[in-house]
Amino acid sequence: MDLELTQEQTLLQQTARDFATREVEPRAKALDHEGTWPGDLVKRLGELGMMGIAISSEYGGSGFDHVGYALAIEEVSRACASLGVIMSVNNSLACDPIARHGSEAQKREFLTPMASGKLLGCFGLTEPTSGSDASTMLTVAERDGNGWVLNGSKNFITNGPHANLMLVFAMSRKNVGHKGISAFIVPTTTPGFSTSKPDEKLGIHAAHSCTVFFDNCKVPDLQLLGPEGDGFKVAMGTLDGGRIGIAAQALGIARAAFEKAVAYSKERKSFGSPLADKQAIQFMLADMATDIDAARLLIHRAAYMKDKKQRNTREAASAKLFASEMATRVTHKALQIHGGLGYTRECDAERHYRDARITEIYEGTSEIMRIVIAANVLKG
Ligand code: CAA
Repeated sequence: MDLELTQEQTLLQQTARDFATREVEPRAKALDHEGTWPGDLVKRLGELGMMGIAISSEYGGSGFDHVGYALAIEEVSRACASLGVIMSVNNSLACDPIARHGSEAQKREFLTPMASGKLLGCFGLTEPTSGSDASTMLTVAERDGNGWVLNGSKNFITNGPHANLMLVFAMSRKNVGHKGISAFIVPTTTPGFSTSKPDEKLGIHAAHSCTVFFDNCKVPDLQLLGPEGDGFKVAMGTLDGGRIGIAAQALGIARAAFEKAVAYSKERKSFGSPLADKQAIQFMLADMATDIDAARLLIHRAAYMKDKKQRNTREAASAKLFASEMATRVTHKALQIHGGLGYTRECDAERHYRDARITEIYEGTSEIMRIVIAANVLKG
């Protein structure tokens, strides 16, 4: 793995950075405080080719690699973690599985408009009684002529209130565990599809999520993604990519908090000199910088392996585990360095601290990441 970025990766990073600093960062605090869905910025991501970064241009994407994708998510999340996850869900959880498992017709009809940002996607795996233990889902898909009828619900669906398409996992065969799960591409305009009001969350307030209900939703065979019964593997393989996106989001959040802590420590004086002169603060900054570097290396390794089409289940889990817990550590220290000011809504440190926390939970909790890593380590 070459640690030097390619010309294409540098270009993508710069494009994402320019967009994020000019158009996103100045609005991030207000978007979070008001809980406003950033519809115009989601549209801009599409115009910039960032809703299908690693999807081939033949299907509406930008044709970059996954290292480039991680760089772009980091830049956008540094400015606004909400926009970062909206983008990550569309790229990793909606476009990527269709690119990998979809038929030519599905790629034309569903992938192309999502990767080009014309339609927004979301991912329906989690249910009220099935989160970490994903294969115990209750949503069912019953055979009906040349199609399927979906009944059930999914919750905590990021992008759910605004999405046009949803990748839905449902039990199409009973009593065979995960081998009974199939994946379906479901337009949100399908009769019987409905959503709850957006969830009220601790952070990432501008990234709306909700519960989704299926009440006799008819889905034609043409919208079955991959073979019947392969849905769980589609979901797990998709999350191997998604976890790179969330790790990169955590990295972006940590970087934002770190950069602000460095600036504040130079400017704020106490006991006759800037905070930055105190070893207690220097040690915190040194640990934060090291944590951030380590996370980035793990993320790029997992992304590089995906680009090389190597199985990266363990590496993606390690990247997500480390980066998300690192973001919690770094944002905690950043808030501490800001003192009382850091605890106020006036200061971005509190937003970064709240935003970091979800990265330890969604797309697989830290506990599930440890289970995945240990299982792969022990397998040898
Ligand atoms: N790629 C491909 N196949 C995989 C796989 C992977 N990464 N991981 C497992 N599989 C296969 C296994 O090989 C196995 O296949 P066989 O039966 O043919 O051998 C099958 O899947 C079942 O594997 P396990 O026995 O390991 O499955 P399990 O039921 O024990 O579950 C788990 C494993 C790791 C705990 C899994 O359930 C898991 O990852 N849970 C967390 C779910 C999660 O991340 N949810 C996030 C929701 S999405 C979200 O948050 C989106 C959002 O809005 C932001």
